Amino acid sequence: MKTGQSGIFSLGTSSHVYLEWDLSDAQRDRDLAAAIASLREPRTTIGGVNLVSGFRPELWSKVAPDDMPSGLHGFRDLTGIEGFVMPATQHDAIIWLSGSAYDVLFDVAHQIISDFHGLATVAEETVSWPYRHDRDLTGFIDGTENPSLIDAPEIVLVPDGQPGEGGTVLLLQKWIHDTAQWESLSVHAQEQAMGRTKQDSIELTDKPPDSHVARTDQDQFGHVFRRNMPFGTTTRHGTMFVGFCAEQRPLAAMLESMAGLTNGVRDALTRYTHPLTGAYYFVPSTERLRGFGAVDP
Ligand code: HEM
Repeated sequence: MKTGQSGIFSLGTSSHVYLEWDLSDAQRDRDLAAAIASLREPRTTIGGVNLVSGFRPELWSKVAPDDMPSGLHGFRDLTGIEGFVMPATQHDAIIWLSGSAYDVLFDVAHQIISDFHGLATVAEETVSWPYRHDRDLTGFIDGTENPSLIDAPEIVLVPDGQPGEGGTVLLLQKWIHDTAQWESLSVHAQEQAMGRTKQDSIELTDKPPDSHVARTDQDQFGHVFRRNMPFGTTTRHGTMFVGFCAEQRPLAAMLESMAGLTNGVRDALTRYTHPLTGAYYFVPSTERLRGFGAVDP
């Protein structure tokens, strides 16, 4: 049995950095995998840092072909109805750092960037932080329908005996909010768009078919584990969607549904926020990552 990377399940951290990397030389994919595998968090009980690392599926299938869930592929542009597009901005690797404060993450990230000099560059950097404990920047509580940490590993991790065992599929998508438009809506209209009440996150009994929770209904599409975070500045901000699942299909199906491709109904939320980025990464098990250099030189 292989173990999922523990940072996936480390809730409650107040600072996050997502670094998406491009190889400087496409031939050096093994070197990048080995460099990422050799990363270690600082040894401290107090100011610790969680590290979660993943790879472009096509890159990982090249360097560890026996560890790849079948059919997993990088993000492709998704064109929905009414001209709505989710763009692909796939990169070679992701390192997600989370911890108690930004300064420790800054130092660790800074060191990694310097260590990777000449091998890979940061193509996309996002700094995230929680807003009012558990709300996203729409003002709604985010994560209500998440599984508990007892149940999450079963949803997130590729089961024993399957290629990619102990690994997971990560969908990372940065959504920028049209805050002025969203805030011009009444609370009632916002609740209709989300499908839940704003204050307490109670699901509406008569939620509209285009509400966000109707369009991402896990009973229909399968269950996922979300670690979304607000990102940005006071003038430009949104939601970093961070979703994990043992399979790609539920995540992809939710995106298609939000874009209106499932039944011609587009997610109301997509009228007030739109994705700037889109990438899938395979996040291997701790053992496969740690043993990478030794097992697969
Ligand atoms: C700007 C982007 C997004 C925002 C602000 C947002 C916010 C929310 C909020 C407030 C909820 C209701 C509470 C909860 O259960 O968490 C929710 C539910 C959910 N969202 Fe999102 N979300 C966004 C994008 C996405 C995307 C891209 C996906 C899928 C790929 C997704 C999947 C889900 C799922 C699965 C649920 C639970 C649905 C259920 O009730 O079964 N969300 N989201």
